[in-house]
Amino acid sequence: MDEFGADPADLTPLTGAALLTPAHQHPSGVVLSPARRGEFVAWAECCDGFLIEDDYDGEFRYDGRPVGALQALDPERIVLAGSVSKSLAPGLRLGQLVVPPTLRVPVTAAMRESGGGVSVIEQLTLADLVARGDYDRHVRRVRTVYRRRRAELADRVGALTGLRLVGAAAGLHALLPLPSAEYERRLISTGEYVGLRLHGLHASGYRHPPDTSAPAALVLGYATPAPHAWGQALDLLGEVLEAEGLRAGPRGTRP
Ligand SMILES: Cc1ncc(COP(=O)(O)O)c(C=O)c1O
Repeated sequence: MDEFGADPADLTPLTGAALLTPAHQHPSGVVLSPARRGEFVAWAECCDGFLIEDDYDGEFRYDGRPVGALQALDPERIVLAGSVSKSLAPGLRLGQLVVPPTLRVPVTAAMRESGGGVSVIEQLTLADLVARGDYDRHVRRVRTVYRRRRAELADRVGALTGLRLVGAAAGLHALLPLPSAEYERRLISTGEYVGLRLHGLHASGYRHPPDTSAPAALVLGYATPAPHAWGQALDLLGEVLEAEGLRAGPRGTRP
């Protein structure tokens, strides 16, 4: 990973398949650059490989610039995966795959063998929600809510610290790069003290083993708090940032 997204440099003719999140990498928020998209597709075409495009939060883009599906570049080589985990609830275990014709039989067989079948009742309920337009209405409504939350988060953090969120204005989380790993550790432990669970990229590795090469940053999810709890969560974050002295210096210089 770098500022252009996933790096295809390590792919070889024997790799077989690569799993990508081109529209929005988690947790960096980076969008795969057009040049990299081309390089991945060229690799798949030259090496008989497949790409799996994991479009896990594509419904949520807030700056009016949705990223086109990579899959359109070569539908014979690219599997497009979507999920309702972000738009409805992860517990539903519902998603969809657009699979190249050559993979349909093996993918169906693998799903059958893995016992990965999905409840027909829940599938039909989702189909009904889509057919009535309710799914679309729901996504449009929550998109507005999350867009507002992201802006409020950016404003609060910016006003208190002079630091800026990075990554595309999309999805359900933002990345706040920090001046040092020490700040990251202190913010997380002060957060724990006041009742706000914070995730750090460097210290806690964010769901991965701690990685000391990862930059210091907070991964801030803004979708989970219920409407009545959002304001309080934002206030607590502000308290933590202020308590740790992460304040803007003159004209945005860092502490
Ligand atoms: C990168 C990525 N892909 C996919 C998903 C959705 O996974 P699932 O549909 O299994 O809940 C997530 C959820 O957090 C994710 O972070």
